[in-house]
Amino acid sequence: MCGIVGYIGKADAPSVLINGLRRLEYRGYDSAGVAVLDEGRLVIAKAPGKVAALNERARADWPAERFSKSTMGIAHTRWATHGPPTEVNAHPHLDQSGDVALVHNGIIENYRSLRARMESKGHHFYSETDTEVLAHLIGDCDKGDLFQAVCDALHQVEGTFGIAVLSAREPEKIITARRGSPIVIGVGDGETIIASDAAAILAHTQRVIYLDDNDIAIVTAESIDIRDLNNIPVTREIAELAYDAAAAEKGGFEHFMLKEIHEQPDALSNAIRGRLDFNLGSSVLAGMGTSPRELAELGRVVLVGCGTSLHAGLVGEYAFEDLADIEAEVQQAAEFRYRNPIIGSRDLVVAITQSGETADTLAAVREANQKGAFVMSLCNVVGSTIARETGRGVYLHAGPEISVASTKAFTCQVAVLLMMALKLGRGRRFSREDGRNFAREIESIPALVAKVLLQNERISEIAASYAHNEHAFFIGRGPMYPVALEGALKLKEISYIHAEGYHAAELKHGPIALLVEGTPIIALACDIPGKDKTLGNIEECRARGARILGIVTEGDLEAAECMDDYITIPRCHPLVATVPAVVALQLFSYHVARHRGCEIDQPRNLAKSVTVE
Ligand code: M6R
Repeated sequence: MCGIVGYIGKADAPSVLINGLRRLEYRGYDSAGVAVLDEGRLVIAKAPGKVAALNERARADWPAERFSKSTMGIAHTRWATHGPPTEVNAHPHLDQSGDVALVHNGIIENYRSLRARMESKGHHFYSETDTEVLAHLIGDCDKGDLFQAVCDALHQVEGTFGIAVLSAREPEKIITARRGSPIVIGVGDGETIIASDAAAILAHTQRVIYLDDNDIAIVTAESIDIRDLNNIPVTREIAELAYDAAAAEKGGFEHFMLKEIHEQPDALSNAIRGRLDFNLGSSVLAGMGTSPRELAELGRVVLVGCGTSLHAGLVGEYAFEDLADIEAEVQQAAEFRYRNPIIGSRDLVVAITQSGETADTLAAVREANQKGAFVMSLCNVVGSTIARETGRGVYLHAGPEISVASTKAFTCQVAVLLMMALKLGRGRRFSREDGRNFAREIESIPALVAKVLLQNERISEIAASYAHNEHAFFIGRGPMYPVALEGALKLKEISYIHAEGYHAAELKHGPIALLVEGTPIIALACDIPGKDKTLGNIEECRARGARILGIVTEGDLEAAECMDDYITIPRCHPLVATVPAVVALQLFSYHVARHRGCEIDQPRNLAKSVTVE
């Protein structure tokens, strides 16, 4: 949830570090800090708020020469867990001597007992953070060898960490390590960049090394020496990043969210390309690593995820049941390991996650593995913890998603789930011809989305007239029910309008009591089975003064006439229709938030990847 950058090389470290933080700011943005070595002395700047505030602070407080001469340092952008987002709680944190600086992602669970032990030795703490305790512990272990001190300290730590450490006493190296929180090392030409996310590395190199859990690396400008915490050397391959720095820029759009919404035709094409087999009427998802026999023997599909990824799973549930006649259920990843899930070797557990780092989803993966299930993941971020830990699955190929509000990852997740369901369906209920027909439907998704995007201006105008509301309800049936949930999530997280998603039939079991004159109802009323009943529910809302915005199928005048306003999606298969429908809602939410003047890419209190429970 926080971002780490470390740099050692020949360039101006403060600028490199602050620019790197800007690229990671979507991971956490309540305070930031940077530490550099300047003529052998450790100097630190911190500021509450965004990275821009840190930049201002460093440029105001530091002499200009520090920007031109310092060539190594570490930096951090924070999403507060221990203590509020104040300057004193911002990273980097120092040890007792003031010579060792640390930035840390993750949580040190036994920090209270470690802190008490350090205090009994006379250590003084300034912040409320668990990270400062780890900095002191490293300093306490330091008997002249920083690497060994970090190993010794980490052996005493319970919890998760991705860290970068530097010491004024050993100014030629940075030590970095991970357990449960990602660290990527960029292998540059005479420079090495450490980061919690490849986005901070792209401007320097596309050659990266991903650390595994319990790896610790001694990093210099020219070398990367990776060991385990017992000082045994380990080998990690260099990987090439599949995208360049431009992919992580706004590219002329006002916000990353708008850019990512518009990228969906391309992102979906990338997710689908080469994965449909029209000859067999099936899909080719090699990463699943399953034989037709194994697929035929599966008894159940369990989909786990959080937030938007959970909603994609809910669409998948309909797809697996409809297309493959296989029992499917969705479980909130956060609940999975606490409710004794009944899982066995005939169950396929699919972890759905854009980032591949979500703590609850990772824990669910581990639990499912323990129970002997067939576990795979559906991830966007290549090399992420969940992708690596599951070892099999399907990458989304959606490209980097920077906006905290997930858009293109959701639609690519749905597209991949539809392809998975098609594959299972061909082994069970689908004829070759049925399979071909559905494959054609999947193939058309990018074009369907492109047609919705053409309505951007109109959707912006509609959104302007809803932007003053403080409450909204989204309703849908069948596969449009999860789309209603996702529409409500999108609206609330970026516009701060209180929005709830309901099954259309559920409204009259309670929520309808909240309807007053003008309450917005956003109704997924596309022409799919159940539409007539949804139109009936809409009438019930209209009778109570609600204002209805409908998502309707092109040419469906009957549905359009029931609405105060409507956005159209092209006619297509009901499962496929979830994708253009959600894109209409993404644009609606985006424009409502823009008309309200919200900070769309970095909504309050949120962060891109949620690596704490
Ligand atoms: O990276 P993940 O897909 O595992 O993230 C799950 C949720 O944290 C994420 O979808 C969150 O709900 C987004 N802010 C939604 O836009």
